[in-house]
Amino acid sequence: RTLRIGLIAGDGIGKEVIPAGRRLLESLPSSLNLNFSFVDLPAGFETFKETGTALPEKTVETLKKECDGALFGAVSSPSTKVAGYSSPIVALRKRLDLYANVRPVKAIASARSPVDLVIVRENTEDLYVKDERTFDAPDGSGKVAEAIKRISEKASHRIATLAGDIALQRQKIRATGSVSSIHNRPLVTITHKSNVLSQTDGLFRETARKALAAPKFESVEVEEQIVDSMVYKLFRQPSAYDVIVAPNLYGDILSDGAAALVGSLGLVPSANVGDNFAMGEPCHGSAPDIEGQGIANPIATLRSVACMLEFMGEETAAAKIYAAVDGNLEEAKILSPDMGGKARTEEVLEDVLKRL
Ligand code: NAI
Ligand code: MG
Repeated sequence: RTLRIGLIAGDGIGKEVIPAGRRLLESLPSSLNLNFSFVDLPAGFETFKETGTALPEKTVETLKKECDGALFGAVSSPSTKVAGYSSPIVALRKRLDLYANVRPVKAIASARSPVDLVIVRENTEDLYVKDERTFDAPDGSGKVAEAIKRISEKASHRIATLAGDIALQRQKIRATGSVSSIHNRPLVTITHKSNVLSQTDGLFRETARKALAAPKFESVEVEEQIVDSMVYKLFRQPSAYDVIVAPNLYGDILSDGAAALVGSLGLVPSANVGDNFAMGEPCHGSAPDIEGQGIANPIATLRSVACMLEFMGEETAAAKIYAAVDGNLEEAKILSPDMGGKARTEEVLEDVLKRL
């Protein structure tokens, strides 16, 4: 099987970790019968400064027409408004209908506290529809800004269904050892704040419940948790979770929080998933503080390659990558500075390739 992969390195350390992802794909054992071709595609703040757009139409078209999957590095987004700039990753998720952001968070076997969970975040709506406005308060007391939080039955249903499918898939591979057996049966936790937002989060909760009541999810245990107490419990007892499903904003916050459980943002991968396309994306940003030094941890990207392959139906290749990365972390000899080591991006990559 030959797969064409779009490579969107973006800004900062995106340019250092995406080449590592490419090398990994090129180095997969030939017994897997997988071949790859690549196309480099521009996006990001530098692209914006050069061309006036952060996401050139050609990048979107090439991904849609030519590619089977993609890897996205990171882009820098100014935190104050720059005229004409808007985040290309948010736009890309919409344009390619990548409706789910799937983030596995897993500690190595020898870690002090066991963590092995997956956060399934809705990727297209909620406050991220970015429908905001600012106006003067009618009583003359100053400005007021407001934003629309949009939740639809359609998006809530498909994200909950995907969460259920992932729970079933994990149950299958639990036996093989690649999911550590913290749970002995699949569990989906629905996250919301419907005690306050009874209509928006209420619709999410109700629809997710309905989706997960489908006969195919008979073996899946379903529970729900209010998002604030979820944060508390996630940090107190992460082993209580298997698959977490959440609307966009809560999912974003929970997944960065969960990354702290396993040590470094440089370890945590994600995949943006649609019905026919998967885009792997490390969870970290462009890390301007370490850019250009060759010390970025490539592991989040290497695991994102595995995530992408899983959603392309290449579970065997993905499992090999996860195992090679776990081997590197377990042995804890060749670690990048964020993990307390001295190794450079290149050295961590070489060690993982050797184990592969
Ligand atoms: P960041 O994730 O870039 O960095 C946070 C901290 O973690 C920094 O100290 C950085 O050195 C460290 N770090 C991150 N990834 C690492 C890796 N692979 N290896 C070693 N250390 C790593 O988040 P920050 O600083 O808040 O944002 C920087 C820029 O990145 C901003 O412009 C922001 O908008 C953008 N960003 C982009 C994202 C994306 O493209 N999806 C996601 C998050 C932030
Ligand atoms: Mg985030």
